[in-house]
Amino acid sequence: MKWKNKSITGSMLSLTLASSLICASPVAWADDIERAVEYRQGVMNVFGWNMKAMSNMMKGKIPFDQKVFAHHAKDLASASGLNLLPGFPEDSESEESDALPEIWMEFDDFEAKYQKLAEAARSLSETAVNGDKASLGKALETTGKACKACHKKYKN
Ligand code: HEC
Repeated sequence: MKWKNKSITGSMLSLTLASSLICASPVAWADDIERAVEYRQGVMNVFGWNMKAMSNMMKGKIPFDQKVFAHHAKDLASASGLNLLPGFPEDSESEESDALPEIWMEFDDFEAKYQKLAEAARSLSETAVNGDKASLGKALETTGKACKACHKKYKN
């Protein structure tokens, strides 16, 4: 009798546990997606901040200063050296996100495009140390193309 009671309590407990897990997991997942979206958008904004400053200099909207330019190039190279792929967990679409589902259908290509950006940004940063303005302009253009190549295919 005692044993039987224990077993009932035990199975009731596991039932409660199981149902709370079932209920809790979609909530946790939505929260994880939100955090991933914030993370990747945050890093993208770091890219955007530095690209904008460099392109404004090239366009003459702000005075060209090689030291400042080199600093932005270095920050862009550092940021694109981050492994951003964990910021794109499978099927992490949301209302706040402009990420397209194609990302997870062609993840190898997505990764390759991210790699291309990292290479372009590294090269831009190396050029910025003592390259002339024309070669900086060229390296910046190559970097901008790496951004656009990915956005065109994978961003809304
Ligand atoms: C490998 C693909 C890829 C590359 C390369 C890439 N992006 Fe993005 N970018 C995305 C995706 C996908 C989004 C949408 C993310 C989201 O909303 O979840 C995005 C979003 C953005 C956003 C909007 C962020 C926000 O707050 O909504 C900016 C700004 C941006 N990217 C700038 C850049 C710049 C500048 C570069 C190049 C230096 C770059 N990106 C390179 C894929 C890429």
